[in-house]
Amino acid sequence: MALLNSSLGASAGKRRSLDLVEVSLSDVTYSSSSRVNTYTPSSQFFGRNTSQPAATILRDVTTTIAPYRVSAWMGPSGSGKTTLLSVAAGLEDRLDGGSIKVNGEDGCLPKNRLGIVWQEDLLLSNLTVRETINFSARLKSPKSFTDAEIDNLVDDIISKLGLIHVQHSLIGGGSSKVRGISGGERKRTAVAVELVSQPSVLLLDEPTSGLDSNSAFQLMLTLKELAKLGHAIAVIIHQPRTEIFHMVDHLLLLSKGQVLYDGDPHSVRKYLEERPSVGKLPAETNIADWIMDTIILDENSKDGSQLPLMWKDHVQNVRISVLESGTMRSSGGKASMTETPELMCRTLSTLKELEKEPKYARGFWTQLKLLYVRSARQQRGQRLTRVALILTFSWTLFTSLCWGYIPDTTSYTHSRSSLIFFLLIAQSNAVVTSSLVIFTSERHLLSRERAKKLYSVLPYFMAMTASDMMNHLRCYLLLDM
Ligand SMILES: Nc1ncnc2c1ncn2[C@@H]1O[C@H](COP(=O)(O)OP(=O)(O)OP(=O)(O)O)[C@@H](O)[C@H]1O
Ligand SMILES: [Mg+2]
Repeated sequence: MALLNSSLGASAGKRRSLDLVEVSLSDVTYSSSSRVNTYTPSSQFFGRNTSQPAATILRDVTTTIAPYRVSAWMGPSGSGKTTLLSVAAGLEDRLDGGSIKVNGEDGCLPKNRLGIVWQEDLLLSNLTVRETINFSARLKSPKSFTDAEIDNLVDDIISKLGLIHVQHSLIGGGSSKVRGISGGERKRTAVAVELVSQPSVLLLDEPTSGLDSNSAFQLMLTLKELAKLGHAIAVIIHQPRTEIFHMVDHLLLLSKGQVLYDGDPHSVRKYLEERPSVGKLPAETNIADWIMDTIILDENSKDGSQLPLMWKDHVQNVRISVLESGTMRSSGGKASMTETPELMCRTLSTLKELEKEPKYARGFWTQLKLLYVRSARQQRGQRLTRVALILTFSWTLFTSLCWGYIPDTTSYTHSRSSLIFFLLIAQSNAVVTSSLVIFTSERHLLSRERAKKLYSVLPYFMAMTASDMMNHLRCYLLLDM
């Protein structure tokens, strides 16, 4: 099949071409037992069964994430939105039923075509906005890109996401003392980090939560602009304001892991109002609020959730009428790729074409260098704390005194070599201990970035250890001066 490319931002100089990707989930069923790791050493040894009872989180979910489209996923808390996002991203490998197709073929979306913005971002606090985006751009861009071209790309993304005024500000937040950038700027930075690789599919978990209505609107405008370029975007959203609701091109409603609507957001009101158990949308009420109230009322009703069953019947009826009329169009609002005239003449890449790039965009040495620089920058704020200085000073004083008190004769050679041995062990122990602290704090970041195939574990480990050792060395050099 021909490879479909969409040229992006001509002003930005060289950009990676964007392959159009459609991810279709059909009757996906997923239960929590497939997530739980039931192995523990005690269970192995004593033969105890630690497995938890399976709870079905997603049941027969059918939806499509298509290019040129912003899909909004809505549903009450616990309805399975985040789980669906992980499943669609191919991060949950075992499904209990159904299938996921990428451009019509069975399989998972290659990670280099995917961008995920999680609800809780894991941006490093001591890096500036520009450094954060730059790191991601350098690791994700193909080798053929020069430094100048990557800088252009970073500039373009920064201006596209309205981050120019804060590009040199520290991210801050978390446990750091730095106040840092605002919540909206943080969310946009998290989006920028994903956008530098030109992902064909961009999934966002509640990017507007915690933002004021104007920042949320601006973020959605940006997503709309991106969709126009061919990105396939799915965004989990909680009670958006009316303008945002009308901006989205496709709506998926979930209730207790089941679909109760999947289609055109402009038809949802008519569809729901036609259900016998649902009242009319009251005047001057936000449609998104009304939808959520309707779902919650349905979930709490005496007969249990009826709306997902009604949706199943509706889809069945639509299928029958489609078969009878012999047309390919679905009146249930399932706007598939074939419905968009712009795309009808285009062909999508095959999975093989999408997977043609190497596992990691950059080689071992580039990964090591970039990780070292990032880690050194992250630690720059922690470099010379008062506690570290006092500890280093006391440690140096203690060892100097010990050394000084050992008489300078051959009969004390053994004591001197013991002291040197003790110093070496203590030093390496200090480096390993502080590395362990950093590893624990960055464990989630590591697993997220590893899942996105940004780098392998070895360069990460080497970079962290090297940057930590350099920090220790700097501390000693400062005292020696
Ligand atoms: N590993 C797991 N084991 C057992 N149950 C889980 C697991 N992960 C999620 N669940 C359950 O699955 C349901 C759906 O969770 P999910 O996080 O997908 O909901 P959500 O729609 O994203 O909710 P929210 O809007 O609050 O973020 C919840 O009831 C949750 O408790
Ligand atoms: Mg969630």
